[in-house]
Amino acid sequence: MLNFRYISPTQFVFGRNAEASLVEESPKLGKVILLHYGSGSIVKSGLYDRVKKHLAKTSAKIVELGGVKPNPSLELVKKGINLCRSSGVTGVLAVGGGSVIDSAKAIAIGVPYSGDVWDFFTEKATVAEALPIGVILTLPAAGSEGSSSAVVTDVLNKSKFDCEHDLMRPIFSLMNPELTYTLSPFQTACGITDMLSHVMERYFTHTEDVNLSDRLCEAVMRSIIDTSPKVLANPTDYAGRAELMWASTIAHIDLVGLGRVGDWASHRIEHELSAQYDVAHGAGLATVFPAWMKYVLKENLAKAVQFALRVWNVNYVTNKDEEIALEGIRRHKAFYDSIGMPTNLKALGVKDNRYAAMAEKALRSGALGEVKKLDKKDVVGIYTLAEA
Ligand code: NZQ
Ligand code: ZN
Repeated sequence: MLNFRYISPTQFVFGRNAEASLVEESPKLGKVILLHYGSGSIVKSGLYDRVKKHLAKTSAKIVELGGVKPNPSLELVKKGINLCRSSGVTGVLAVGGGSVIDSAKAIAIGVPYSGDVWDFFTEKATVAEALPIGVILTLPAAGSEGSSSAVVTDVLNKSKFDCEHDLMRPIFSLMNPELTYTLSPFQTACGITDMLSHVMERYFTHTEDVNLSDRLCEAVMRSIIDTSPKVLANPTDYAGRAELMWASTIAHIDLVGLGRVGDWASHRIEHELSAQYDVAHGAGLATVFPAWMKYVLKENLAKAVQFALRVWNVNYVTNKDEEIALEGIRRHKAFYDSIGMPTNLKALGVKDNRYAAMAEKALRSGALGEVKKLDKKDVVGIYTLAEA
């Protein structure tokens, strides 16, 4: 196990009616709060009205900015920063999924910064200050309700970049599983794929002596896999929705990745798909991750075998390690298929080949990954494998 430093300052309030805790929690955002949300799902579900009612019980002044789209845009982030500055906003409340939360995080770091907020995403500047961020989560997927990162898209330049800093961890996250009953089967499945991927990015590593976190990863993955069909069959299954909601947080709050080096190549490779084709992040990962697993199979075969045996219950046969590992990947891909995810690029909606340009962008900060350091040829190879 490697040395680590870890902080998770978020107050999580979990369970039915968690959003009512806004009355106690929102003073942490100060006197003027930006209420930030997406394209209407919270209005349709009635959550918007309830949030406004809870906020009306406090003395805070509310400024609103809706309209966040999936793969949140830099343009709206900049609009939010200007609005916050002109209204004296002291904290940001995100009500929605990963896109809304990430947009809120980008606004929160952009307001106190005198330069262009995109500097943080292009590694030209490091975050030094941020407005406090509060969350009401409506979609378990990205883990942004507890994570230290945000991902924003410069739509004009087709660039989807991430930025990471502990100051972007929300100060509170209110998590009511009932708020996820209205999710479509597709969005539910995208969330399942994303949270599984967050565990797998940490699980596949060369770091040794990480038995505890390996076992934690396997427990989280198995819980997600066992729960998913139940929730897809019965969208108002409270117990199942609760398992998935907490799994999304556990998968990306770093607990299962402490003391080990994560890989994260699949995420970078997927972000280029989202940037080019505006596809859902989870759906993109369903095509990329199995291709990556196949491509790097021999780099850490023992781990791939362990994954097959412990996560997918593949039968152990001596001297057949590669077959066992491949069967694990096959079962993993079949799982994505069973929950309605696309498992190849064509099904994802990718109809042309921009692999070389996408690989170059994904490699902007150097080689990708930990299991295998990927260069341009490797990344193109993974996109090509994802065609099947
Ligand atoms: O915009 P509204 O109307 O709210 O609709 C959204 C959106 O269309 C809808 N939705 C959300 N909650 C709902 C609902 N519909 C019905 N009922 C509800 N309860 O779902 C659609 C997708 O929402 P979005 O927020 O885009 O999805 P998700 O939570 O999967 O977030 C994806 C974004 O997070 C980034 C991804 O790259 C992507 O941009 N990620 C952020 C990470 C982080 N900050 O740590 C890590 C991840 O790896 C990921 O990259
Ligand atoms: Zn992700």
